[in-house]
Amino acid sequence: MKGDSVVIQRIKGTHDILSPSVESWVALETMARDLFTRFGFREIRPPLMEWTELFARGIGESTDIVEKEMYSFTDSRGRSISLRPEATAGVLRAFIENKLYSELLPQKLFTIGPMFRHERPQKGRFRQFHQINVEVLGDPGPQVDAELIAMAHLLCSQAGVTPTTFLINSLGCPECRPGYREALSGFFSKHEGELCPDCSRRLRTNPLRVLDCKAPACRELAGNAPRTLDHLCPGCVDHLSGLEKALDLLAVPYRIHSSLVRGLDYYARTAFELVTTHLGAQDAVMGGGRYDGLVELLGGPSIPGIGFAAGMERLHLLIGDFVQPSVPDLMIVTLSTPAQERAIPLCHGLRSRGFFVEMNFEARSLKSHMKRADRTGARFVLILGDDELRAGNAVLRNMRTKNQESVDLARPLEQIVSLFRAEQEMSKPC
Ligand code: HAM
Repeated sequence: MKGDSVVIQRIKGTHDILSPSVESWVALETMARDLFTRFGFREIRPPLMEWTELFARGIGESTDIVEKEMYSFTDSRGRSISLRPEATAGVLRAFIENKLYSELLPQKLFTIGPMFRHERPQKGRFRQFHQINVEVLGDPGPQVDAELIAMAHLLCSQAGVTPTTFLINSLGCPECRPGYREALSGFFSKHEGELCPDCSRRLRTNPLRVLDCKAPACRELAGNAPRTLDHLCPGCVDHLSGLEKALDLLAVPYRIHSSLVRGLDYYARTAFELVTTHLGAQDAVMGGGRYDGLVELLGGPSIPGIGFAAGMERLHLLIGDFVQPSVPDLMIVTLSTPAQERAIPLCHGLRSRGFFVEMNFEARSLKSHMKRADRTGARFVLILGDDELRAGNAVLRNMRTKNQESVDLARPLEQIVSLFRAEQEMSKPC
């Protein structure tokens, strides 16, 4: 029926990653994998969904993520399941469940993939987005913290993200956190009337979360609130100065930023972010920190940890498409059915030797085939018709130099391969 079908569109906040962008995404992932391997990381691929309880306990009940941003549903037995809003909780669940802690420590794990948060979509903010996420389990730092930040810095510089000054803060530990919490509570209680309704509630459940609120009035108040750095215990002070020393040794650019708080509850001591002025409101390219009590909180042994995640959409927005899609080495143009039958095994033979070869199955004029070959950017075109079959030779045209070579159809594969190789050598940059 005409006009009845409604076009089904993508869900708001999701996006299709198409060529020529997808080539840069793959290159970015490969770059990250290669770099992480050199730092001793191994890949882990946890599921995209977990019991909601894992995120509630791990990320924190009073965080925006758990309070209002998770995609949760109940299964047929009435248990709540959520799409992962971040990777750390799932990686740690897998670390505990698979007893990875009984292997050599520290364990260095990375994962790359989609995350889901029901946030208001805008530039650089999606409901399905992708993270490159790394975790180090079993080293209390601070040298490992610096090593991780240096690795994040290398990833940025290899990808071409500049400038890369990291913001660093210490969020204290269970020893000094209660005193800081009390100081914050006292400060915000005096201004309770100015807080947004969410923060009025958070004041009682977790005053630290007020520091992370995006409401303008709360932000302004947070700017004058007590700073963690003034409430650190001697252990945390030493940890932070150890981190600074190690970052200096590694020549990583950083700045202490006393108002840096993270949107997840699990952090203790080191917290860091890389922000940029090129992305508008969604300015965090990557962020992470230390979460020493989290493995225990999720039911595992007492093992310290630190990690970070980079947003792939934001990295891509900053660096754009930096990889060109591949172009065919050869386009085989056939002009008759016998020519096509002769070309099919030749095309397959070249592909099995690692070349990118296209051929036509539809009968069209030579002119339209050549036009198509030109549009694909093919390096060579081989024209095969009845005349060529009769003569036992076909013409191989170099599309860049316009030179033509005669190819002996008795042994075409070797001749074409050696012409490809010669062309590759010629077009290499000096
Ligand atoms: P996060 O700061 O929530 O940390 O996210 C890390 C990065 O993911 C952000 O800096 C941003 O680039 C990207 N991101 C977050 N939300 C969105 C969104 N809605 N759309 C596009 N990009 C987004 C974490 O997720 C922690 N799990 C990081 C970590 C790992 N901490 C320790 N280990």
